[in-house]
Amino acid sequence: MRIEGKEYRTIWYENNIVKIIDQTKLPHQFIIKELKTVKDSINAIKTMEVRGAPLIGATAAYGIVLAIQENNNLEFIKKSSEDLINSRPTAINLKWAVDRVMKKISGINSNQILEVTLKEAEEICNEDEKFCENIGINGLKIIEEIYNKKKDTVNILTHCNAGWLATINWGTATSPIYHAHKKGIPVHVWVDETRPRNQGANLTSYELNEEGVENTIIADNTGGILMQRGEVDMCIVGTDRTLANGDVCNKIGTYLKALAAHDNNIPFYVALPSSTIDWNLKDFRKIPIEERNSEELSHIEGVDKDGELKKVLIYPSKSKAMNLAFDITPAKYVTKLITEKGICEASEVGLINLFKK
Ligand code: MRU
Repeated sequence: MRIEGKEYRTIWYENNIVKIIDQTKLPHQFIIKELKTVKDSINAIKTMEVRGAPLIGATAAYGIVLAIQENNNLEFIKKSSEDLINSRPTAINLKWAVDRVMKKISGINSNQILEVTLKEAEEICNEDEKFCENIGINGLKIIEEIYNKKKDTVNILTHCNAGWLATINWGTATSPIYHAHKKGIPVHVWVDETRPRNQGANLTSYELNEEGVENTIIADNTGGILMQRGEVDMCIVGTDRTLANGDVCNKIGTYLKALAAHDNNIPFYVALPSSTIDWNLKDFRKIPIEERNSEELSHIEGVDKDGELKKVLIYPSKSKAMNLAFDITPAKYVTKLITEKGICEASEVGLINLFKK
């Protein structure tokens, strides 16, 4: 997708170096950062220079490439792969990507290991791009249907950033929106600010602006009244881990939006590539929910009047704060899942019919 008219992917490999767009500096500064070691990859994931389930998966895959470039000793590669998996706990894509690469290189001759790993990391990226494009083609039908009935702008609410910045390209939740926009269907996006890190305001609104999609940032608590006023036609969000029964783990606050949508009879869609499905875990209570530093709540970053990036304290200095990063929306509140293979019920039968038959 585009930034200032130029096409980018969110991650790429060039001359033995992995390049990323540093998302902690957006929307105020556009900085391309170089990752040269596996430690750089782990740090980029932990500090959220890269974030979003599919993108952290791809970064971990490239992280193994960087580990091998440093030292192709098997013990070092194994330890690096474990550290990559543990760098953020909730999104399943990290483990999915690392397991996929490690399986590919098991038993491989040491002089081929780098080439095979790099090929697999690139394959993961190419596949994610294709899957996200297909999510868009599938999800477009839903937006088209609403437009054909309404004959007016389709108002879509989204939470966090499940945009192209969270994937390799296209995004998950945003892909149907980009496809609708390219087809000339008038769409307008209500962008949840998404406290505490403001991925909605800082990233989703930014990338929609760059693609010329009309959007309005709202405080996280505004969605409910907009739904009651009939100003939301549908919600689409992404996911960090979807269980085989259709329960959806996503950015904190997603659950409350799903409850409000349910109360107002507004369809609530979740868009995901199959790399985000956890086929093994049965109970959503067992999903490891990341708890991040409370400083993300108590401090806020932005630019001052001279354009300088500044971080300021906004809470009483003696107050405690708690920062859970994800919540779970039970399948019963999810209207449908939009995947690369098609649209299905948020249920075991729905997912199995699409992916296991
Ligand atoms: O903490 P983040 O910014 O990595 O959380 C991202 C989300 O919750 C996204 O909605 C999710 O990863 C889906 S991305 C296509």
